[in-house]
Amino acid sequence: MRTIRTVSELREALAPERRAGRSIGLVPTMGFFHGGHLSLMRSARAECDVVVVSLFVNPTQFGPNEDLATYPRDEERDAALAEEIGVDVLFAPSLDEVYPVGFTTTVSVHGLTEVLDGHPARRGQGHFDGVTTVVTKLFNMVQPDRAWFGQKDAQQALVIKRLVRDLDIPVTVEIAPTVRDADGLALSSRNVYLSPEERERALALSRALQAAEQAVAAGERDAGTVLAAARSELDARGVEPEYIELRSADDLSPAARVDGRTLLAVAARVGRARLIDNTVLGGA
Ligand code: PAF
Repeated sequence: MRTIRTVSELREALAPERRAGRSIGLVPTMGFFHGGHLSLMRSARAECDVVVVSLFVNPTQFGPNEDLATYPRDEERDAALAEEIGVDVLFAPSLDEVYPVGFTTTVSVHGLTEVLDGHPARRGQGHFDGVTTVVTKLFNMVQPDRAWFGQKDAQQALVIKRLVRDLDIPVTVEIAPTVRDADGLALSSRNVYLSPEERERALALSRALQAAEQAVAAGERDAGTVLAAARSELDARGVEPEYIELRSADDLSPAARVDGRTLLAVAARVGRARLIDNTVLGGA
């Protein structure tokens, strides 16, 4: 595996692969790999000839009161894990390489980015502007045939699919299932912030999703009743959600009933960690 830090070196490395007709898979990450990242890399490894993993903690997607300064980083460990999986290129550019002096462009997806995490009282649309701008740049830098993202960031996944469709970016977006610890906690780089007691409370999120899944499996369709089942699990562990909402899994419009694919998305702060999780109810 090669670690590459500049766009010109990356282009030089990938051009002969592309000319030879070899498929290129990209896994965009902010590093501090966990099982979720590794499963994306394994899928890319199984399905593409050349696998590029990008590692860049993107400052423009962090709000002023968020954890950019303390976001966990360990490039050496990440490189060893990626190498074990058979990744070909770890693309780890510097801040200046991604945002050179004078950088003034923003790529914005509207609508989908204004609810849930994008609501002005939460991370805000600026968070998604940061994501869509850097992902557009990564797509242009790597020019992958396929790119992998995780379903844990369900809203991000929809936003990126919309970005690719709206701008005719020639990449297939693959969304991989959320990876969980044995007790149900969704894997996240931010789980390192949790003390043992907070980790126990954090289980409230996955338990809330399970309670909703059970209610729907028992035939419940009313959004209020399904949400009440989920909320009771949060209450039981003293976790106050930033939001817990049912929305269309296709366009994030509000859902009054679980008819068709309905996204149940939850966000909550547990200690220092802001956690998100979701499940798709009422459909595949
Ligand atoms: O999901 C993430 O880790 C980030 O939002 C991404 C897609 C790598 C963009 O910085």
